[in-house]
Amino acid sequence: MIVERSPDEMQATALEWRGQGLSVGLVPTMGFLHEGHLSLVRIARARAERVVVSLFVNPTQFGPSEDYQRYPRDEARDLELCHAAGVDVVFAPDAPSMYAVDRSVSLSENRLSKGLCGASRPGHFDGVLTVVAKLFLLCQPTVAVFGEKDAQQLRVIRRMVRDLNFPVAIMGGALVRESDGLAMSSRNKLLSPEERSQAVGLHQALLAIQAAWEAGEVRTDALRAHALKVLERFPLAKLDYLEFVDDISLDRVQEISEPTLVALAVHFPSARLIDNLVLQR
Ligand code: PAF
Repeated sequence: MIVERSPDEMQATALEWRGQGLSVGLVPTMGFLHEGHLSLVRIARARAERVVVSLFVNPTQFGPSEDYQRYPRDEARDLELCHAAGVDVVFAPDAPSMYAVDRSVSLSENRLSKGLCGASRPGHFDGVLTVVAKLFLLCQPTVAVFGEKDAQQLRVIRRMVRDLNFPVAIMGGALVRESDGLAMSSRNKLLSPEERSQAVGLHQALLAIQAAWEAGEVRTDALRAHALKVLERFPLAKLDYLEFVDDISLDRVQEISEPTLVALAVHFPSARLIDNLVLQR
């Protein structure tokens, strides 16, 4: 396994592979890898002859008061996990090599990215799309794999790829949970023991929605009330948003008929966590 730090050399390697007719799978990450990331690597490994994992805590997708500095990092461990997972190249650039001081071009999406996390984190998806587009140009993937935990991110990236004709297939990898139901996330590491024990509240709130929907409730106000009642049992969890949106347009829905994304974001004192569920007959 090669560890590549230079964007130019990463691009040269990737172009050489593509020139040889090889398929390339890319798993973009911000490092501090967990089983959720490794499941994405396995998807890429099964679909491509070369696999690149990027490890880059992208500063442009964090707001000024967010956790860029505190975001968990452990590159040595990430490299071991990538090696064991059969990754060919880990692309681990630093921020100055990715962003010129006088950079003046970025990408934005103007519809799907405006609600949910986009409303709570202004500029976040501009940062995500810009870095993902750069990673696509640098790593030349034929397939790129993103986690379904970041449901809005996955949909916004698919939209970018469609609207800008990036020649890459986008695949979603199923959300992976801890044994108590907490969605795996690098940010779970930031939680205090008490916050960690209350973080199961996100999944439990979603399960309450699912149970009520399976029992026949389709009104999203009523489903929301079930979830808020559950969240009351977890006082360290302060709701950022709980939204029911059409799974394709991400427009809010009042009653569930089409596949509906239920997206939840919660602030704990040490970290903001997200989780989601798709309701679909
Ligand atoms: O999902 C993430 O870890 C990041 O948003 C991504 C896609 C690697 C872009 O920095």
